[in-house]
Amino acid sequence: MVVSEEIIVRIREANDIVEIISEYMVLKKLGNNFKGLCPFHSEKTPSFIVSPQKQIYHCFGCGEGGDVFSFLMKIDNISFVDAVEKLSKRANINIPHKLSLHNDKSLRERKTLYDLYEKAMNFYSDFLLHEEESVLAHKYLKSRGISSQIINKFKIGYASKRGDVLLKKFLNKGFSVDLLKKAGLISFSEKKKKFSDFFWNRIIFPVFDAQGRIVAFGGRVLDSGLPKYINSSESMIFNKRKILYGLNFTSSRIRESKKVLILEGYIDVLTGYQYGLENVVATLGTALTKEHINILQRYAEEVVIVFDSDNAGISAALRGINQLIDSNLKIKIVSLPQGMDPDNFLRKKGKEAFDNFLKNSLSFIDYQFKIASKDVDFSEVEGKIRVVNKILPMIVQIKNEVEKREEVRKLAERLSLAEETLLLELSKINKSNKFKTKEGFLSDYKEEKDPLIERDILQILLTEPVYIKQVKEKICVNDFTGEITSQLIKYVFKLASEGKEVSFHRVMDYFGDEKINQIITRMILNEARMRGNKSEILEKLLENMCRCKITKKRNELEKEIKAMLSGEKEKDLNKLREYNDLTKQLKGSQRELRVL
Ligand code: CTP
Ligand code: MN
Repeated sequence: MVVSEEIIVRIREANDIVEIISEYMVLKKLGNNFKGLCPFHSEKTPSFIVSPQKQIYHCFGCGEGGDVFSFLMKIDNISFVDAVEKLSKRANINIPHKLSLHNDKSLRERKTLYDLYEKAMNFYSDFLLHEEESVLAHKYLKSRGISSQIINKFKIGYASKRGDVLLKKFLNKGFSVDLLKKAGLISFSEKKKKFSDFFWNRIIFPVFDAQGRIVAFGGRVLDSGLPKYINSSESMIFNKRKILYGLNFTSSRIRESKKVLILEGYIDVLTGYQYGLENVVATLGTALTKEHINILQRYAEEVVIVFDSDNAGISAALRGINQLIDSNLKIKIVSLPQGMDPDNFLRKKGKEAFDNFLKNSLSFIDYQFKIASKDVDFSEVEGKIRVVNKILPMIVQIKNEVEKREEVRKLAERLSLAEETLLLELSKINKSNKFKTKEGFLSDYKEEKDPLIERDILQILLTEPVYIKQVKEKICVNDFTGEITSQLIKYVFKLASEGKEVSFHRVMDYFGDEKINQIITRMILNEARMRGNKSEILEKLLENMCRCKITKKRNELEKEIKAMLSGEKEKDLNKLREYNDLTKQLKGSQRELRVL
C-alpha cells in the first residue's frame, strides 16, 4: 500500500469503529466500552469488546482484534486496500493519486470490471424481460419451475442467440474491444475471424460476491447441449476458491440460524431459496476450499454439505475437506438418493421431505468411517488397522476434547477394539504432530511463551507512551527475549529515538500482522491487569527485570567459578570480583559466596 501513513490515520479517525461495527452486529454499552457476540467465532455470552476511545476491538473469546480496517478486512473478506478505499469513500476523503499510484491502478481496474459487469447484468436481464426473442428462455425457466420472483431477485438473464448483441451494444456505449475481451464478455473466433459474444443462447446467472457485487457470470444451455455450463474465467475480482454462490442473499439468514447448507449448483440454490431454504450457498463446480470454510465460519456454527449421490461428485467435493475438520465448524454430510440433486428432490418431494432427509446427515467422522470401511473385512486385523489409520488422524484434529473422546469411543465400539488401545495410538499421533515443521511467521506462536514481564512493560508503554523515557533509561532492546515482545520493543524504541509519536495504532499499522493486532488489542483492552499507579508498577517491573538480568549473569559466573575451583579452568580474579559486585547489587539476596 502506497497510501501515506497520514491518510490512513485520517481515514481511521473519520470512521468511528463503533458505528462501523454496529452495521454488522448488535453492540451494547458497557462502561466505557461496547460489548457484543463475537462475529468471528460462535459464543453464547458476549466477549467481543469495542472501545470508542481507543478505536479498537478485541474478542477475549477467540483472540481476534484490531482496528476498523482489520475489522472490515475480516468481516467482508477484503484486502487492506479495499478496506481503506471503502472507508475513505464513507468519510469523503480523497486518496491523492500520486500517493497511491500502484494500487490506485489496480483499484481502478477492479472498479472498471465491477461497473462493466453490473451493466452486462442489466443488459442480459433486460434482454430476458423485454425481448421477444426470449420466449424460449422463459419457457425453459418455466419448465424448471423457477418463479419470476427468483428471476428478479437473482437477476437472471438471457444471452441472445444472435451472438453479437452484447458486443454491438457495448461498443456503442463506448467500451473497447480490449476491455470486453479482458472481461470475458466477448471472444475471438479463429474460424469466423471476428469477435463475438462469449455467452450466446444461454440462461445467464450473475455471480455475486458476499458484498453483492457482480464478479462473474455463469451461462446454461436451454437444452441438453454441451457444455451444460460455461463460466467467466477467473479475474482480479473473481476467485472461485473464495466465492459461494448465493451468499450475498442468504448470509443474514445463515447468521440467524447459525447453519448453512452447501449445495452443488446454481439451480439448487435458486430452487432451495424458492422453497424457503434461505440458508443455502453453492460452490461453483469446485471442491469446498479452506477459503470457503473461513468465510462461512463468520456466519455459521454448523455446515451441512449436501451431495448429489453420484460418487464423482462426492469425492470431488470432499477433496481437500480433510483439512477443514480443524475449523470450529461442526461439519455434517448427507448424500441424496441415487440420481437426485437438491433441485429435483425438492420439486419431487417438497420441503418437508427434504428437511426430513437432512436428518440422515452424518458427522464428518461418521461419514469418513462409512467411506473407509467400504469393502473392508473387519474380521481381519489388517482391515481394522487400515480403518484406524485412516480415521484416527482425523479424530486427532477435533478441537473439542469431549467430542474427541466420543469419537474414539464410537470407533472402538465399531471395530470391537479396546478404547485404551485407540487412546494410546492417538497420543502417538499427537506427539508426532508436535514435531511438525513450523509454517510461516507466527503460525504457531503462543503469546504465553513470551515472558510476562516483557508483555506487562509493553502494555504500559503502548497505552501510556509517556513512560518510554523511564524505560529506556533502565533497559535496552536486547533485554527483551520474547519472539514478539522483542520486535515490539525494538520498534517502540526506534520511534521514540526518531522523535516520533508512539501509539499502538502506529505500531499495528507498521507490522500489519493479524497476530500482532490480536496481541496488542488484548493488552490495550485488558485494563484489569494494570490497575493502580502506572509509574509505580513500571518501576517494580523494571526492577524485576534488572534483577532477572543480574541473576542470570551471576549464575553464569557461578558456573565458571566452580570450574576454576575444580581446576578445570584457570583462576580469574576479575570474574570473582564481578560476581561479588553483582551479589551486592541484588539487594535482599543474602547469599554469600561460600566457596571463597
Ligand atoms: N458446473 C460448471 N460447468 C459444468 C458443469 C457444472 O461450472 N460444465 C458447475 C455449475 O456451477 C453447476 C454446478 O457445477 O451449477 C453443478 O453441476 P450440475 O449438477 O451438473 O448442474 P445443476 O446445477 O444441477 O444444473 P442443472 O440442474 O441445470 O443440470
Ligand atoms: Mn440439477
